[in-house]
Parts: sequence; structure tokens; C-alpha cells
Amino acid sequence: MEVPEFEGEKEIIEKKRLKERILKLLDCTYKHYHENLFLPQAKPAQEYIKKRNFTKRELEDFKMGYSINWTELIDYLQKQGFTYKEMLEAGVVQKHYNNSQENKNTQNNTSNSKESYYDVMAGRLIFPIFNAFNECIGFSARVLGQSDYAKYKNTAETLVFQKGKVVFGINLVKALKQKGGLEKIIIVEGQIDVIAMHRAGFNSTVACMGTALTKENAHELKKLSNNVILCFDGDSAGTKATIRSIDILKEEGFNVLIASLPEKHDPDEVLKEYGKDYLSNLINNALPIIDYLINVELKNYDLNKPDEKGKFTVSVLKHISKLGSDSEEDAYLDKVKKITNIPIDILRRDLEKIKGGQANKKSDIKITDNVLISRENGNIRAIKFILGSLIYRKDFVNKNIDYKKLMPRYCEIIDKAYENIPISSYFDYFDVDQNPILKDCINIDFGEYEDAGKKYFDECLWTLISQELIQRQSELAEKYKECTDSNERIKIIQKLNDVTKSLKDKNMEDFYVR
Ligand code: UTP
Ligand code: MN
Repeated sequence: MEVPEFEGEKEIIEKKRLKERILKLLDCTYKHYHENLFLPQAKPAQEYIKKRNFTKRELEDFKMGYSINWTELIDYLQKQGFTYKEMLEAGVVQKHYNNSQENKNTQNNTSNSKESYYDVMAGRLIFPIFNAFNECIGFSARVLGQSDYAKYKNTAETLVFQKGKVVFGINLVKALKQKGGLEKIIIVEGQIDVIAMHRAGFNSTVACMGTALTKENAHELKKLSNNVILCFDGDSAGTKATIRSIDILKEEGFNVLIASLPEKHDPDEVLKEYGKDYLSNLINNALPIIDYLINVELKNYDLNKPDEKGKFTVSVLKHISKLGSDSEEDAYLDKVKKITNIPIDILRRDLEKIKGGQANKKSDIKITDNVLISRENGNIRAIKFILGSLIYRKDFVNKNIDYKKLMPRYCEIIDKAYENIPISSYFDYFDVDQNPILKDCINIDFGEYEDAGKKYFDECLWTLISQELIQRQSELAEKYKECTDSNERIKIIQKLNDVTKSLKDKNMEDFYVR
């Protein structure tokens, strides 16, 4: 009785066989290309190699090669017993579209002749690409001179070569790990940059085929190390690729550092122009993610413009919100405070808001942005309007409030305002030019506020008072945490409740004149 084949078994076996044949073919091909490099016919490649200063050792380490012409490889592979179909499947040849058309019209079937196919990498300097098992899976090849075609040509997708999975240099890094000499992986954009990094002594460097790192890449690299340094080109494409890669690497659980290269430079150019020590220095001083992102955002915004400062702050807080550790958050909020001069409480509150927004996708982050921007200088604006009203428009002023208590820094101005001195006298009592707040509130044009003035005054008042209350809230919470006496704790809680209630009811009584 015949044993029934399980469905698909034949296909699986066939695929496995084909894969083996492809790997065998690619192995022959890269060795052949490599031998070509030293033939007299390889003069263009040899000159190019000289121009770029590749050493004999580098040619060997990376098994670089050359394709002499369109057909020579095909002859060789045929002699080794490979079929055209296998060459096509391995991605080393392509079919001439025109020829195959002609062949259809002619009687003799030459569509399977050598003339119908050509070596994809002809005339280029070839970098074979190896997988972690040291098997050649495809090629990336550079034009030698000027060309209308792409600078680099890569093997098309095949059974063994999927662009998104390829990591150039992974075989060398794996070998390093096996020797016990791997502490971190450096990721660059191009294969020539990998060579440059090796030359500078960083032999655990890999590249991910021109595009940003993929999830598959990250997964593959994680098997080798937990530590990664990103070292992409110093241009906007490099920055974008870095930012995308950071997210992927973090998700995979890597410790990530970023080395920023000078504008418009890749590692190879840095090595050539600035030297080995400079490049080493960049790598050894690579920044943690948030420090890098803060630098990127600093370049994106002009902090001298209030609205851009607000946007900068929101962008950075968004990055901080993804950190996931309180101690790191605190450290970075402090850094943002130093850069922006925005008080830490306000930064903390906006951070919580942004986090809330992430948890609840429905809430609109844009609103948070606006709130922050208006608050960022809203505080100053409120102070100016209140002082200005005290000076010019007492009819706007809420008479219940103790303004000196609310704004102790401006006691002297408030005193003078209540004395109703003439405006010019302010210049006698104060150095107005050195006091931007006073200068601005003297210059407020109250014509604009005619009808809405009183309402706007109350809004300004609440801006300041609510901030004071929030400040008190956090002070009380701090006190509560440190307090061990249970009676004392109850008192603190009561006060905390009062403050919270005042905030909720917009109650300003605490600031009333007594
Ligand atoms: P780059 O254009 O940055 O090249 O591409 P490079 O590494 O600086 O090379 P040189 O110094 O000019 O020789 C980086 C990588 O992007 C992919 C290649 O993998 C390349 O190494 N790339 C680039 C392509 O796949 N196709 C292209 O046309 C260009
Ligand atoms: Mn380059």
C-alpha cells in the first residue's frame, strides 16, 4: 500500500533543496568576484580601491569583489553546474526583457542562452552580505564612477535575501562575541561606514542596508548584545532614521546611546577628515536617548521666541513621558527646567497631562500643547496685566484681594500704584529699563481691553492664585509623606482637602485682604 504524502511536504522539501542550491551558488559567486578583484581586467576597481584607501586586509576581511562584465560570471557558474533558473532565483542575474521578446518571434529558442541574461552587478565594486552563519546571502555593489543608475545596487528579494532582515557585518560581530570580545554593537548606515569604523578600531559595527533599522534587525542583534550605539549620518535623514530606530531598539529592550556626527558627515567622512581619535571620541561620548532628543529639539526651535519655547517644552516632555522611570523623569525635568526656566511643578504637571493623554488616546494632546504654551508666559502676562490695572485701571481690579501677599516680589510697585503717583514718577522710583515687567505693564494699551477688561483681570487673578494653590498642594503632599505623627498627618490631610476644594471651586478667599 502506498503511503500518502502529507500535503505540502513535497513543496517544503523542494524549497529546502532550492535554498541549499542558492546558498551554494552565492558562495561560488562571492569567491569568484573576490578573485576577479586581483586580475588585470579589474583595473577600474583597483583604482577605485586605491582612491578610497581600502587596505589589502580590508579587502580580505570583507571579501570585497568585482564583476568584470555582463556575462563572465554566467559562464563560470554554468561550468560549476548551475542552471539559469538557479542564477535567477539567487538574484545574481536578470533577464534581458528585449531579448526574450525577440526570442519569442524567432524560431530557435535562445531564451535560455547566455545572451538572454546578464550579471546584475557588472562593473561594480561588490560587497557580499553574510548572515550570522557566515553564509553569503546576497550583494550590495557600488558604481565606480559617475552613473545614471543608483549608487548602490542590492540583490533583489530572494528566498534567502530579505532586505528588512539583512544586517551587514553581523557575521563579524558574531565571531567577535564567540571570542568573548563584544560589549556593544555600533550601527551605521552604509557598508563603507562599517569598514571605516573597523578601521578606527570599532570592530563590532554593523549596517542595515540604507533604511532605518527594522524590528527583525533589532531581534537579530539582541541575540548578540544588549547595548547599542547608533551612529547614523549627520543629516536630517540620519536624524529621522535615528529617531525611528530608537523606538524599535527600546521596544526590544536595548540600552541605547547615540553618537551625533558633524553636519553632513558619515563615519567614513569623519574618519577621513577629522581622523581616528575624533571618531573614537564621538563614539565614547555617545549620549543617552533623552539627551540626544533634547539636542535635536533644541535645533528645531528658537527658545528666544516664547511660542517656540512652549513647543520645545511639549516635545521634550513627550519624550520624557516615555521613559518609564521616576528617577530618570526627575533628572530630565530638572534639565528642562534649567534650559527653559519653567518651574519644575509646572513641568511635572504637564508631563502628567501628556502621560494621561497617552493612556487615554481620546484626549487631545493638542489642547495640552496650547495650555502649556499659554501658561508658559501666561503667568508673566497675568502679572503684567494685574500690575498695569493697579496703575491705570482700578475699575478692573478685584478689591478683595491682598495683592502684596499674592505677588510679594512686586510689593514696591503695588505700594506706588496705591499711592496713585503719576506715571512719570515710576521712572524716578524704579530703573524701568532694567525692569522688563514694569516697563511692559506701563506700556499696556488699555484701549484694547475696554469691555472685557474686568473679566480678563479675573482670569489673570485666577491664573496666579491657582498656581499658588497647586504649589501649596504639592508642599503639603511632601510634608505628609515625611510626617510620622498621626495627629499631625490628619491636620495636613485636612489642609490638603481645603486647598483641593478651593481649586475646584475657584475660591480665592485665602488671598483676601484681612
Ligand atoms: P550612502 O549614500 O550614505 O552611501 O548610503 P555611503 O555609505 O556614504 O557610501 P559612499 O561613501 O558614498 O560610497 C548608505 C547605504 O544606503 C544604501 C547602501 O546600503 C549604502 O551603503 N544605498 C545607498 C542603497 O541601497 N542604494 C543607493 O542608491 C544608495
Ligand atoms: Mn560615505
